Amino acid sequence: MRYQGGKSRIAKQIASVITNVCSRESNLTFVSLFCGTCSIESKVTGFSRKILNDKHEYLIALLNGVKNGYELPEFVSLEEYQYLRTHQNEDKVLSGFVGFGCSFGAKWFGGYARSKTTNRNYASEAKRSLLKDMATLMDAEFTCKDYREVELPDGCVVYADPPYDGTTGYGNEKFDSDAFWNYMREISKNHIVFISEQNAPDDFVSIWERQLTRTLDVNKNNQFKATEKLFVHKCNEKYIKNL
Ligand SMILES: C[S@@+](CC[C@H](N)C(=O)[O-])C[C@H]1O[C@@H](n2cnc3c(N)ncnc32)[C@H](O)[C@@H]1O
Repeated sequence: MRYQGGKSRIAKQIASVITNVCSRESNLTFVSLFCGTCSIESKVTGFSRKILNDKHEYLIALLNGVKNGYELPEFVSLEEYQYLRTHQNEDKVLSGFVGFGCSFGAKWFGGYARSKTTNRNYASEAKRSLLKDMATLMDAEFTCKDYREVELPDGCVVYADPPYDGTTGYGNEKFDSDAFWNYMREISKNHIVFISEQNAPDDFVSIWERQLTRTLDVNKNNQFKATEKLFVHKCNEKYIKNL
């Protein structure tokens, strides 16, 4: 399912880098600290356990709901969208689905998505792509915590796709990138940690890069190019080179 800051266009490539790391070992756990709608997490294979975390409670309610068999709607009207926007706690699974899947740019209740020129059904598209991704995640454990509170089992492989530096993180809180990089340094001592970002401090090295065009508005007037990168801390570089 599309998601603000989501990486669906490069998900396969990032997932294959992470999957390669675990291909020589068995019984490894994969932990994603900022899973969003799991476009990458659903394509990572070969791990015996997956712990997928995000601090957005409606998003995690949605992922747990689908895992437990919740039937998502095929269509959501403008009236239903507006009602849910102001009654988000009545059904958190449905709010999670509608708030992202039926909103322009998949921005949390950022405006009812519709097209002036086509009959696109955003709810149906979102449902189909979420169910496709969730098909490989029915055994995953979804948690709703701050990323620093997520359990990291011995020897697990960690993936972090944080809000971009300088952007709003969870709710209206600005994401503290210095604290984030310090935590990445700390956990890289005991785990292989992959980080999706455009820039990183000097002690992190980029092991994969891809240029993407990003669009900010519905008419595609506001487009810019960005280079997506995958970083590891330099103390983890030896594991990557040995692949
Ligand atoms: C860039 S998005 C992740 C996109 C996702 N990997 C995808 O491809 O769909 C960043 C995520 O970080 C979550 N987030 C923000 N602050 C957080 C925190 N302190 N702890 C855990 N998750 C947080 C947001 O809810 C958001 O889902």
